[in-house]
Amino acid sequence: MLAAVTELHYGEQTLLGLNIASARRYPDFVAELEEASGQDVGHRACGTLAVAFDSDDRAQLRELHTFQQELGLECAWLTGRECRRLEPMLAPGVRGGLRVDGDHQVDPRRLAAALLTACERAGVDLHRARAERLLLDGDRATGVELTGGARLTAERTVLAAGSLSGRLAGVPDEVLPPVRPVKGQVLRLSVPERYAPFLSRTVRAVVRGGPVYLVPRENGELVVGATTEELGWDTTVTAGGVYELLRDAHELVPGITELPLVETCAGLRPGSPDNAPLLGPTALPGLLLATGHHRNGVLLTPITGDVMAEVLTSGELPPEARPFTPRRFAAAADAGAAPAVPAAPDAAPSPAQEQHT
Ligand code: GLY
Repeated sequence: MLAAVTELHYGEQTLLGLNIASARRYPDFVAELEEASGQDVGHRACGTLAVAFDSDDRAQLRELHTFQQELGLECAWLTGRECRRLEPMLAPGVRGGLRVDGDHQVDPRRLAAALLTACERAGVDLHRARAERLLLDGDRATGVELTGGARLTAERTVLAAGSLSGRLAGVPDEVLPPVRPVKGQVLRLSVPERYAPFLSRTVRAVVRGGPVYLVPRENGELVVGATTEELGWDTTVTAGGVYELLRDAHELVPGITELPLVETCAGLRPGSPDNAPLLGPTALPGLLLATGHHRNGVLLTPITGDVMAEVLTSGELPPEARPFTPRRFAAAADAGAAPAVPAAPDAAPSPAQEQHT
């Protein structure tokens, strides 16, 4: 989902600015990418409905609505009946909800495939191998060594290895990104023709304190997500994870138990200490970062591409990206702030084994 407004958290207004700027770029980005790749990326301007079940949820959602209004964001409060009129499959217990017409969706798997095709068509040389080690010449990054020993040299190297970005060998400790894996389990169901349209927009809620969302894809797929687990490099799909997602989704939309369950999977989000990405040059000349996007990697794809293109060509981070410089963590450490990133268990795969949800 592209949930700039519905995934807003208190204290993250700076990140909200980046999320909204990226959401605004989506229509043009998708048009350009689909043209360049010849592939459809499943972008749907469908909007999102966040609903509440009990008076606590309702009060919490009301507060979020007030906060969103203070920030000038577009959203509308609906009664339970209005929510069900929009989405008739919702449970009768829904007490109210927030309609956010600007939070859309794109299919991340199709997006990644289209980006690869577009890169190949543009003449990008893709090496499908693991980057094992950063190469250094004195105090300068000069490229990477791949599995098997091949070396790729470069004036500038962008480390963009998702949750594994903090594990690349050879990166000096003081510039190693403080990125940790945050596990998310996801289910995919399919909506048979006779039930369509099952949902017409993304529907989300907080059930028993945990967020659950249902994203209906154009191709009849219904994505149910996602757990948030701090378990290091573990990507096991667990009975408990699947049970909790189905239980919470069922509470929201009871009819889902009729749908075929076609896939379960788990991936690792690249979490950073302040939940915001690290974009741009590090203190090591020649090494830049584009990582730590946590829950917003797909949403932030267009702006990350633009920001990195700008900094690689001009040497300057554009103003909208300056709050996200990787150097903000070094500055906090110099000021004596406690490190905010919990250590992950050791047996980590190397960067090229990262998985995406
Ligand atoms: N943005 C959705 C998630 O990370 O689960």
